[in-house]
Amino acid sequence: MGTFKQDQAKWPPGRGFPALYHPPTDAASLSLMPDWKALRAEFPLLDRCIYLNACSLGPLPRRGRAALARYAQDWDEQGTPVWFSTWLPLLERFRGKVGELLQAPAGSTAIAPSVSVALSTLATGLPLPKGRSKVLIGELDFPTIGHQWLSRPEYEVEFVPSRDGMTIPPEAFAERIDSQTALVATTHLFYTTGYLQDVRAIADAAHSAGALCVIDGYQTCGCVPLDVSAMECDAFVGGCLKWLSGGPGNAFLYVRPELIPKVRPQGTGWFATRDPFSFTLQELVFASDARRLETGTWAMASHYAGLAGLELILEVGVGNIQERLRDLTDRILERCDEAGVNTFTPRERARRCGIVTLECEHPEDVEAKLHAEGVIVDSRPGRIRLSPHWCVTAKELERGMDLVLDHVGAASRTS
Ligand SMILES: Cc1ncc(COP(=O)(O)O)c(C=O)c1O
Repeated sequence: MGTFKQDQAKWPPGRGFPALYHPPTDAASLSLMPDWKALRAEFPLLDRCIYLNACSLGPLPRRGRAALARYAQDWDEQGTPVWFSTWLPLLERFRGKVGELLQAPAGSTAIAPSVSVALSTLATGLPLPKGRSKVLIGELDFPTIGHQWLSRPEYEVEFVPSRDGMTIPPEAFAERIDSQTALVATTHLFYTTGYLQDVRAIADAAHSAGALCVIDGYQTCGCVPLDVSAMECDAFVGGCLKWLSGGPGNAFLYVRPELIPKVRPQGTGWFATRDPFSFTLQELVFASDARRLETGTWAMASHYAGLAGLELILEVGVGNIQERLRDLTDRILERCDEAGVNTFTPRERARRCGIVTLECEHPEDVEAKLHAEGVIVDSRPGRIRLSPHWCVTAKELERGMDLVLDHVGAASRTS
């Protein structure tokens, strides 16, 4: 193996690596409403159950399955040369497609094995303002965000409360940001309520006090159109597991380009260096782009599947998926209202997307009973969470909701 640069010259990105699919080249066709029925055939799992848990694990698309088979074939056929002919170009393509999803400039996106690891890298690497120790986190954020900063004794973590248990207005963050605040870290869309936060307002409030802002967009990647520059966040983390139907092991992160030269993660690896194949042990020179946030050898199978899911969603159009999901969640809310079941999800269409949670006694039992009847949902303490896949039909949604409401009603009568 030569140096990274020599090898890159021999194997420029893309050489020997066939695209996993060919996107339509006619720009006009991208804005047309997708053919949902045809797309549904991409997800064989949807023929076997009513899938109302896409925000947890997106179903495997046919092209994801084909990509996994290709991973085995490429490895088996080529052995070591596969790294330069196929695998490193595939990773570069993955970073680029993440950039497309986030509307992020080239060189500002990096790969991570999970969102928790991406947050760990940011927690040590971001150039936070000196002499400040306060980290503000929303009370409804995903636990791993809290754990990340609670595990670091140098930070004082403060949780921004939610008055209604469903939303946190940006003003509630703004009120608590002060001259001691180093960072605001929060999620784009709350995993237990489906509330979509106004990230730009939160980032503006952080910046006006000299603090930085990190957004965890795992629940919006693939269902809400994203533009990290318009959000003005300093860093953004997400992954392909959920709405991108790319399976596990495919998280990623973005850092605002101006900050990248100042980012110095305290845990790192050879893939984060300027020239990994120079094999220099006694000096550490970080890559000049966001690759400096990466670590070591990637679990390549994940990236075959991740790229296939990501490319499929970009082809369908995230804006189209958002509208479809808002229609489906409108109907779920209507059905819950008609049945007199309490929900924890905002009514305003613009403030939600693909998640509705409803009040439920014994949610784990209800989840298991629904599973036995072919309806996949999720349970959280005191709640059933519904997140329909965007190819679920109107008829399936009605049937699924009949069963969900029957079981939720029965559980409340027996308790
Ligand atoms: C918003 C959000 N952030 C983070 C995570 C955890 O991500 P990971 O398991 O990749 O660390 C989840 C998992 O569901 C999540 O919903």
